[in-house]
Amino acid sequence: MELIQFKNSALTTSRLIYGCMRIAGDNSPADRAKGKLALRSAIDAGYTHFDHADIYGNGECESLFGEMLAELLTEQSNLRERLIITSKAGIRRINSPKSGDPHRYDFSKKYIIDSVNGSLKRLNVDYLDMFLLHRPDYLMNADEVAQAFSELKSSGKVKHFGVSNFKPSQLSLLQSACDMPLLVNQVEINIHNIDAFENGTLDQCQQLGITPIAWCPLGGVVYPAWGNTFSVDDEQRINREINLQAEKYNVEPWQLILAWLLKHPANICPIIGSTTPQRIVAAKQTLGINYNREDWYRLLEARNGQALP
Ligand SMILES: NC(=O)c1ccc[n+]([C@@H]2O[C@H](COP(=O)([O-])OP(=O)(O)OC[C@H]3O[C@@H](n4cnc5c(N)ncnc54)[C@H](OP(=O)(O)O)[C@@H]3O)[C@@H](O)[C@H]2O)c1
Repeated sequence: MELIQFKNSALTTSRLIYGCMRIAGDNSPADRAKGKLALRSAIDAGYTHFDHADIYGNGECESLFGEMLAELLTEQSNLRERLIITSKAGIRRINSPKSGDPHRYDFSKKYIIDSVNGSLKRLNVDYLDMFLLHRPDYLMNADEVAQAFSELKSSGKVKHFGVSNFKPSQLSLLQSACDMPLLVNQVEINIHNIDAFENGTLDQCQQLGITPIAWCPLGGVVYPAWGNTFSVDDEQRINREINLQAEKYNVEPWQLILAWLLKHPANICPIIGSTTPQRIVAAKQTLGINYNREDWYRLLEARNGQALP
């Protein structure tokens, strides 16, 4: 597995990150066993970076990972040091903690610190390698967040920090208040959602040495993306081009979509969310695809349904 270094730090990550959002499934014994097998497959395949959030499976995904890590540590005693464990917080669900509470975002210092403590407990680790703010809080006080980050860093509970779903201006504001560099911005990037190409997110990443991480990289045609706007005609047109190119590069169509993201010079790191061991392993083949500029633009035009200006 290709490793890359996060700019502004000595930390290295596998180029493909394993996403733990689906590992607990419906939390049945069968789904939990499947999730553990997926984690083991990812580790065996060389993924070193595991992405979590406090809300995934209502905390069950972190707990399952913690269980699996304890089992794996009996076989590989130095495993923890080889992994990057990232978690996120800041989204508070409806009726939580009290009935009647609305869905909301919360970057208050107390909530951030309490959330990290909860994640550490569920993951059964002493520190997070990286902590991300999950979705921008409209009421963010950047100085208060910076204080929370400083305390978490000085207590040794979090080594590095970043954000998720931040617009460039929101990231700039937070960075201006923080002593430590923000290492990543985790955003949705896929064939359906190309906002990051157009709204300055990837430009800012390149300018500031921030690593863009793509969530739901296969959304759009493999399964409907969030807020899907593709019609059946769109899907057919895009799939036609993807299938043609997949045949040309001798890969599966879903692998071709990953290659399209990897081509971008901002060094996008896709998060692989499959729980199928064969797909977790096969995703690595995409790193070896020598994907060319002409095909990148052909697929963009197929996606747009019109020629570029
Ligand atoms: N920051 C955020 O706001 C945010 C939001 C969402 C997600 N995330 C992160 O991003 C990670 C990845 O998201 P994701 O799981 O949506 O990513 P994904 O890799 O785009 O999608 C995985 C899903 O696609 C299915 N799939 C993959 N290949 C397929 C194929 N060839 N045919 C049919 N189905 C296929 C998988 O099914 P199988 O499991 O059956 O293979 C799985 O259900 C999450 O785990 C989480 O860590 C972050």
